[in-house]
Amino acid sequence: MLGAPGAGKGTQAKKLIEEFGIPQISTGDILRANIAQGTPLGKEAKGFMDRGELVPDKVVLGLVEDRLKQPDCKKGFILDGFPRNTAQAQALDGMLAGIGMPLQLAVSVDVPFEDLMKRLTGRRTCRTCGQMYNVYFTPSKKEGVCDKDGGELFQRDDDKEETIKKRLQVYESQTAPLIDYYSGKGIVRKIAGTGSISDIYGKIKAELEKTK
Ligand code: AP5
Ligand code: MG
Repeated sequence: MLGAPGAGKGTQAKKLIEEFGIPQISTGDILRANIAQGTPLGKEAKGFMDRGELVPDKVVLGLVEDRLKQPDCKKGFILDGFPRNTAQAQALDGMLAGIGMPLQLAVSVDVPFEDLMKRLTGRRTCRTCGQMYNVYFTPSKKEGVCDKDGGELFQRDDDKEETIKKRLQVYESQTAPLIDYYSGKGIVRKIAGTGSISDIYGKIKAELEKTK
């Protein structure tokens, strides 16, 4: 899943997990879990994330390499928020060649810049199940409480206006070039990321069906 911060990568990946039963590998989620647990890796990553910068490649590549070795990846996986620059994409090509599972599709979710700020400042996430809400677009029934499991909703540390601006700049300069990288391999599908979450999901699913 390629797309700017707030494009809906995580939202769509979670729907894909439910339907296809394959794991989502979100480097952002893995890094946040490390921060919450206070691991050395989390301590190393926190400063970069709070500034809206990319965490160094060697840290992220190690995480992904370990995750891909888990047995639940044997049937396939959804990468969300990784790779993030050309060096990571090249390293990923090497890892996937090693396990004989080349990337089949790079779904690029495209949302106009002006919509992203509202999506990110309004985002709330359940601390226990990870379900995402948005106070402007998709609020929970009861403020601050998850509809699914009653968990507490929190706001991400990097969803502050200044940090969001930096994340969007980093996306434009370092991550957006990956659309051309994967276009060159003939696997990019561009999806308009505006409209309802289920309509966007329908479009992604249609592209997946074509690759079968
Ligand atoms: P990461 O966690 O990957 O964040 P991101 O790329 O900035 O993307 P987001 O998670 O903010 O957005 P999303 O596209 O998942 O949108 P969502 O579905 O939540 O990375 C965070 C940080 O970790 C990075 O800045 C970096 O420091 C580090 N990092 C992570 N990976 C790294 C890597 N590979 N290398 C180096 N560093 C790395 O949706 C957003 C909101 O919009 C939600 O509220 C949702 O409800 C709402 N929404 C979704 N769809 C719709 C819709 N159709 N209409 C209205 N609202 C919608
Ligand atoms: Mg996400």
